[in-house]
Amino acid sequence: MSAIALREATEADFETVKPWFEDPRNNVFFTAELRDIAEYKKMYYLMALRDRKNVYYMIETEPERRPIGFVALINIDHGDRTGQIWYVLGDKNQRKKGVMTGAVARVLDRARSELELHSVHTWVVDDNVASIRVLENNGFARIGVQRESYFYDGRYKDRVLFDKLL
Ligand SMILES: CC(C)(COP(=O)(O)OP(=O)(O)OC[C@H]1O[C@@H](n2cnc3c(N)ncnc32)[C@H](O)[C@@H]1OP(=O)(O)O)[C@@H](O)C(=O)NCCC(=O)NCCS
Repeated sequence: MSAIALREATEADFETVKPWFEDPRNNVFFTAELRDIAEYKKMYYLMALRDRKNVYYMIETEPERRPIGFVALINIDHGDRTGQIWYVLGDKNQRKKGVMTGAVARVLDRARSELELHSVHTWVVDDNVASIRVLENNGFARIGVQRESYFYDGRYKDRVLFDKLL
């Protein structure tokens, strides 16, 4: 696997993540409100960044510290110590090298040790093979299927639900 570093995202990272979020090959797998967006506005990014329910991380190459991807913990419930994870590897040249598998492992470590979360969950569109592998590689359990709960381009697909106890 390529060596990576992880750091919390800041306002200055907006211009880096913007094209990643706007790329339809990425956002087709996102939640409906981010799918097919013509323009990802800075206001959305800042609002999300400042929300205590989210922590955004940048993945960088090591030692160059060039940003190549993004991982977020969102919808964090500090009372119940749980949150949702999602991610995008922005630099397509870095794909299939184990980068996201490693980055998710690092975020789970921080979720446990710094945020004191007890569990993490997420959903994946049923045909997003790469994302399902990232979760399986990190020991997530497949806990169910939410049938036909993803609608895009006139077609329904299933969401596969995953969780992991930390
Ligand atoms: C999903 C994504 C983050 C994977 O990033 P990555 O760094 O390439 O993932 P990894 O290198 O850790 O690969 C994990 C596994 O998926 C496989 N994989 C990666 N891309 C693949 C592809 N396009 N097709 C099939 N398998 C793929 C890898 O070979 C690896 O398999 P293995 O565990 O059996 O060895 C990246 O493809 C991406 O950003 N996709 C668009 C956004 C997205 O889907 N986000 C998740 C929303 S839930």
